Amino acid sequence: MNADLVIRGGRVVDATGERRTDVAIADGVIVDVGDDLAGDRVLEADGCVVSPGFVDLHAHLRQPGKEDAETIATGARGAALGGFTAVVAMPNTDPCMDTAAVIREVLDLADGAACEVVPSAAITVGRAGEHLSPMAELAQLGVRMFTDDGTGVQDDRLMKRALEYSSGLAPFTDGASVTLAQHCEVDSLSEGGFMHEGAWSSKLGIPGQPAEAEDLMVMRDIALARATGARVHFQHLSTAGSVELVRRAKASGLPVTAEATTHHFTLTDAACAGYDPVFKVHPPLRTDTDVAAVKAGLIDGTIDAIATDHAPHTRHDKEKPFDQAPPGMLGLESALALALTELDLPLPQLIARMSWQPARIAGIDDRHGGPVAVGRPANLTVFDPAQVWTISGEAMASKSDNCPYEGREVRGRVRHTVTAGEAVVIDGEVQR
Ligand code: DOR
Repeated sequence: MNADLVIRGGRVVDATGERRTDVAIADGVIVDVGDDLAGDRVLEADGCVVSPGFVDLHAHLRQPGKEDAETIATGARGAALGGFTAVVAMPNTDPCMDTAAVIREVLDLADGAACEVVPSAAITVGRAGEHLSPMAELAQLGVRMFTDDGTGVQDDRLMKRALEYSSGLAPFTDGASVTLAQHCEVDSLSEGGFMHEGAWSSKLGIPGQPAEAEDLMVMRDIALARATGARVHFQHLSTAGSVELVRRAKASGLPVTAEATTHHFTLTDAACAGYDPVFKVHPPLRTDTDVAAVKAGLIDGTIDAIATDHAPHTRHDKEKPFDQAPPGMLGLESALALALTELDLPLPQLIARMSWQPARIAGIDDRHGGPVAVGRPANLTVFDPAQVWTISGEAMASKSDNCPYEGREVRGRVRHTVTAGEAVVIDGEVQR
């Protein structure tokens, strides 16, 4: 068969191991793997790693409602430049992604984007924490992850109901499972706080959000996972306490999974010293001890996935004083480099946390994260693990530039991204 595309000369790393081979693609599928393959277009991968495409479990694409900060098209472009072939879009849009109509709108807008955009949906109507969203109807549209991200479900009884309900959705999903993902933060403890509560918040006079606001909700949801048998995914773990709780829950066999963001293993609360709101984020940047615990969790597998929590905000919003500015920072285009530069993880394990493990959690492992093998959908990332470059928010594809790593030198850069068989990034340039 004549191939549309050949990735030539790379080192393939996937869940089955490593090998040096060319990869040929036609009609969206890998059609050959071997030496000296030919095709209509060749992507050179000398010195590069070829891996299953990355999957981000956590991105705010802001559409509908906040198109001045980001759109699905611009967010997907940034994602593709970061090597992501799929991103799970968070539901805190306006209107919220809690009805079939809004999920359909997001799917329509995502058609033709530079990566697959997988909508999550809210657990509760309007993310208000009072009534369950129409989860069965949303699951029927393909939603596999539900979250009220931006806030956690505060009501214990409602969260238990949501978990019970989510484990009975198989008739609406052709048997696929659905996961409830939690932003763990007890509002009554963190309300009125703008950064991590500790030595730095005292020094700066900024009210704090204590670590136990996260730990307590993780603890509760572990108890509820045990009671209901339902799957719980913990979003953006940021405290040493919550990492340890998840470690123990996994050791006892509970169906829990977890992610950590790049900023929670690369930045501490000391970054807030200049009152620059670019470092304001929820959950907040924590201490050295927490950063070390998050890294250890990623290394020993307690934390399954590296996520971005890409949260674009306009300059107009983000340049407000620290207490008034919205929380969040860009993440899609810097994630791989930060992971390669800051984590002491062998490549196969690092890629596992960026590709096949999140793909499984998102329920999209039929098309993302699978082995680089004949017959598999061609969602692939080609990156140079040695390239050194300097991060710049303005150079990013995002409509916003609230990047907390301005000027930081990092190692590892995406060279090509292939989504559904199409080269959407070639030599670092996005094509759509
Ligand atoms: O920092 C954050 N920004 N944390 C969240 O939970 C929400 C997000 C956003 O939407 O901006």
